[in-house]
Amino acid sequence: MTDRPKILVTQKVPDPAYPPLEAIGDVEANMEEGNIWPYEELLQRGPGHDYIYSLLTDNIDARFLEACAASTPSIKMVANMAVGFNNIDVETATRLRIAVSNTPGVLSDTTADLAFALLMATARRIPEAERFLRAGKYKGWGPLLFCGADVHGSTLGLIGAGRIGKLVARRSSGFDMKVLYYDVYRMQPEEEATYHMTYMPMEDVLGQSDFISVHTPYMPSTHHLISERELKMMKATAILINTARGPIVDEKALARALQSKTIAAAGLDVFENEPAVEPELLSMENVVLLPHIASASLKTRTLMATMASDNIVAHYKGERPPNIVNPEVLE
Ligand code: DGY
Repeated sequence: MTDRPKILVTQKVPDPAYPPLEAIGDVEANMEEGNIWPYEELLQRGPGHDYIYSLLTDNIDARFLEACAASTPSIKMVANMAVGFNNIDVETATRLRIAVSNTPGVLSDTTADLAFALLMATARRIPEAERFLRAGKYKGWGPLLFCGADVHGSTLGLIGAGRIGKLVARRSSGFDMKVLYYDVYRMQPEEEATYHMTYMPMEDVLGQSDFISVHTPYMPSTHHLISERELKMMKATAILINTARGPIVDEKALARALQSKTIAAAGLDVFENEPAVEPELLSMENVVLLPHIASASLKTRTLMATMASDNIVAHYKGERPPNIVNPEVLE
């Protein structure tokens, strides 16, 4: 590429992401924090750019990719500032020979921290107790006031044991928790021993755990992986935590299960139709709801932001982008 490439950044991202892009190309950026372009606007703005720096809120579908591929200049790459890339139609991108990259690794610890914080907040009813206090309802210590569930000594069930799942397991050891896991890939015995994790079929993990934390990527095979049937397999005292992707859990089935006390509580950082939340969940005290902030430490978001820029810069320089998810387009 001889001309300076045209780069579109679709949301305001941490500042250090911009200089590497500005050094190689002409950057058009949405600089209004919290302004998420609706799909039609994205579709109108995207074509005519060599590189799209995208966020998980952008629906990078076949229509968008085809429009960007048919324009001049045509699109070379979509660099997503997220480890998950289910917002991108990678199959179409690959067919159109458009590279796609993500930001793995740098957010794993921060996400595991939040998963554990959410688990504790839900178990010990922290947001509910704080709402109570702020509402002026605290009239003195009570033997039954906000009794929750013990975290220490309990059993944690991980559905998905990739980078983040393993780091959640590591945190649980400080609480003397027993860790069960299910994943399509079983670890080697040495790795299971390192993380003190016991493999079981999913039904057994669901049936034997006090806390079930979801850590699989979202893809067709994990759509509604946790639905009515799976919720019924859990203990009546079980607490479900989801910091992965909303559609892995059938949100309506979850609301019913919480209503009927099939399970005790849930902590959710992600939702099926973000930013919408199943209305029933909003009125339940036994649910802790967060606005998809698992990776939201300033340090981690900055690392993610610069990693996405690095992927674009590498591609522009003819190098292999470090975090390409469809390397076959480079062959
Ligand atoms: C991701 O990166 O996929 C998270 O959901 C947001 O950090």
